[in-house]
Amino acid sequence: MNNSATHASWTTADIPDQTGRTFVVTGANSGLGREATQALAALGAQVIMAVRNESKGQRARDELLEVQPGADLQVRALDLADLDSVRAFADGLHADAQAVHVLINNAGVMMPPRSLSPQGQEIQFAGNHLGHFALTGLLLDILASADDPRVVTVSSSLHRRGSIHFDDLTGAASYSPTSFYAQSKFANVLFGLELDRRLRAAGSPIKSLIAHPGYAATSLQTSGPTGLAKFFSATIGNRLLAQSAAMGALPELFAATDPTAEGGQFIGPDGRGEMKGHPTVVRPVASAEDPATARRLWELSEELTGVHFDLSAAA
Ligand SMILES: NC(=O)c1ccc[n+]([C@@H]2O[C@H](COP(=O)([O-])OP(=O)(O)OC[C@H]3O[C@@H](n4cnc5c(N)ncnc54)[C@H](OP(=O)(O)O)[C@@H]3O)[C@@H](O)[C@H]2O)c1
Repeated sequence: MNNSATHASWTTADIPDQTGRTFVVTGANSGLGREATQALAALGAQVIMAVRNESKGQRARDELLEVQPGADLQVRALDLADLDSVRAFADGLHADAQAVHVLINNAGVMMPPRSLSPQGQEIQFAGNHLGHFALTGLLLDILASADDPRVVTVSSSLHRRGSIHFDDLTGAASYSPTSFYAQSKFANVLFGLELDRRLRAAGSPIKSLIAHPGYAATSLQTSGPTGLAKFFSATIGNRLLAQSAAMGALPELFAATDPTAEGGQFIGPDGRGEMKGHPTVVRPVASAEDPATARRLWELSEELTGVHFDLSAAA
């Protein structure tokens, strides 16, 4: 990974014109996804807002159109925690012969009480990782025929505290909201790096990058957590410690658009502890760079989703 690159004070003003490019942004109705949608649409991109709640999605679209009349925004239903919904979303794009240049795997939930997806997986692993894994695999052929195609997967600095609970994936034996959130964000990094290795080996033009926002004030900190964690975020964390959602969206926007960004890079904020700041290349925790763990997670993800990546179609 190239760590020499720094991007002093990179902002949305540095994004080249995006006319003619289509982005799928998961979780586009709120927080970072919404900020990314607004920035991309302002530069002429078509954005497919992939949302689990269509009325929230339509409301966000209407509000964005008030700021920017004429923005090219489509709302499509996608619940990443439900593999049937992921397949229906991908089928819809295929049926409409929809071009996609960049997939931003942005949506996420953080630290909810334990619950299971319709397919019986722990909800954070299902929505944050498995849904994005399946979605990426199902859209690979569409991406491969685009110019400068990219997949950007949004992780968190909390990936550093993660590991894959291969022997208790659903948390049936022991569940902690934080450790299962960290597991899902660790999986995002393992997946993004393994996808990069596989795409390179297949000679694919698609780049896989990873991004994290540092700490940005969004709905994330209050929609999932309960009790003290929620209270702290609502009263102190988001008001005093976090940066804005617009700043938090910059790393994923950089990964999705900057001409110098390379496959396999991890983009995060350049401030102290990677909590705030402008995008730069950062390093994941060493355990997230382990190809053996990544391969094991990949094979498990294929088994749990039934999605097998056709890398020959991605070349
Ligand atoms: N904010 C931070 O400080 C921070 C730090 C590290 C990492 N991140 C990551 O940044 C990403 C964006 O989060 P955010 O901060 O922007 O939070 P947010 O404001 O809560 O937005 C999350 C979005 O994801 C959507 N979503 C959640 N589960 C979904 C599912 N199963 N299917 C489809 N969409 C789903 C939400 O939809 P609803 O509106 O319907 O709930 C919402 O649109 C997440 O991956 C998060 O882990 C954020």
